[in-house]
Amino acid sequence: SLPVPNVQELARSDQIPERYLKPEVDATSLATIDDDELPVIDLMKLLDPELIDREELLKLGSACKEWGFFQIINHGIPEEVIEKTKDDINKFFKLPLKEKEAIKQIPGHIEGYGQMFVHSEEQKLDWADVLILGILPSQNRDLRFWPTNPSTFRDTLDTYTSKVARVVDSLYGLMAKDLGVDTQDMLKMSSDQLQTVRINYYPPCKQANKVLGLSPHSDANALTVLLQANDVPGLQIRKNDKWFLIKPKPGAFIINVGDMMEIITNGRYKSIEHRAIINMEEERLSIATFHSPRLDLVLRPFPELIDSDGELYKAITVKEYTSEYFAGKLNGKNALESVKL
Ligand code: SIN
Ligand code: FE2
Repeated sequence: SLPVPNVQELARSDQIPERYLKPEVDATSLATIDDDELPVIDLMKLLDPELIDREELLKLGSACKEWGFFQIINHGIPEEVIEKTKDDINKFFKLPLKEKEAIKQIPGHIEGYGQMFVHSEEQKLDWADVLILGILPSQNRDLRFWPTNPSTFRDTLDTYTSKVARVVDSLYGLMAKDLGVDTQDMLKMSSDQLQTVRINYYPPCKQANKVLGLSPHSDANALTVLLQANDVPGLQIRKNDKWFLIKPKPGAFIINVGDMMEIITNGRYKSIEHRAIINMEEERLSIATFHSPRLDLVLRPFPELIDSDGELYKAITVKEYTSEYFAGKLNGKNALESVKL
């Protein structure tokens, strides 16, 4: 990717370079999803396979089918772990630029501190800096890019992501139940899975309604777990051709279905377009944890979900789909369209 300015530094001036201004964006025309509209799933009600709350399971299923997004509460990740994660992330982004740049992205690599998807000199840019780190498989961790300041950052991230992976495992199990597919088949999604985090820093912007923190896209991977790292909302999802602002419940995680999940469920579960908007006065921070199966796994619809319409997506490996996605340059649902039959 090409070198572009650090957005946190740019935001110190009132001058917003043309490359960030998107005339078509009107981020202010937004509806709000109330807490009780975006489905909230109580994982405690679904923990014991013998005593599973059928209603809650139905709610999970319909959230995946109708929204592609939901929140989870009572997920078992201790509040201290969440607070520590937020705290260390906030501390890292408060460091002077020079210190953050010690773990700067290397051209051609995705990991490290920098920006997303910069592929041409003409491209419009997103109003955000990011820190991207590969977490699993753990033998592939590239510690050159892992912050050492704050000193607890690495341990905190390790603890946080391992707990998130466990939650994702239980979500896979529950989704298999909801869909009526073989649980062992579904759990192939998480054996030797890939886990990556992208920590997003969105500075405030005087022309907030003309910039985007993250352009509209669906996620390539199977399941994403999002934690807001401060209290400023900014995630919008597309529903009925409108953008809705999501206000996360305190202590909840936002879960979303990615393209790979849409493929294997033969379109039952929906991978929904979303974007991040910017606040005029306040910075926003979030951490997205992406889960996808091992690279050589072949993504194809579960046989149980193929009806008279047949398979809606062609079989493709995780590796191929990921390359296709990144070649599509974060553009709506382009990659998914390209594998539709
Ligand atoms: C995303 O990862 O797509 C959005 C993250 C955010 O809400 O900041
Ligand atoms: Fe996303």
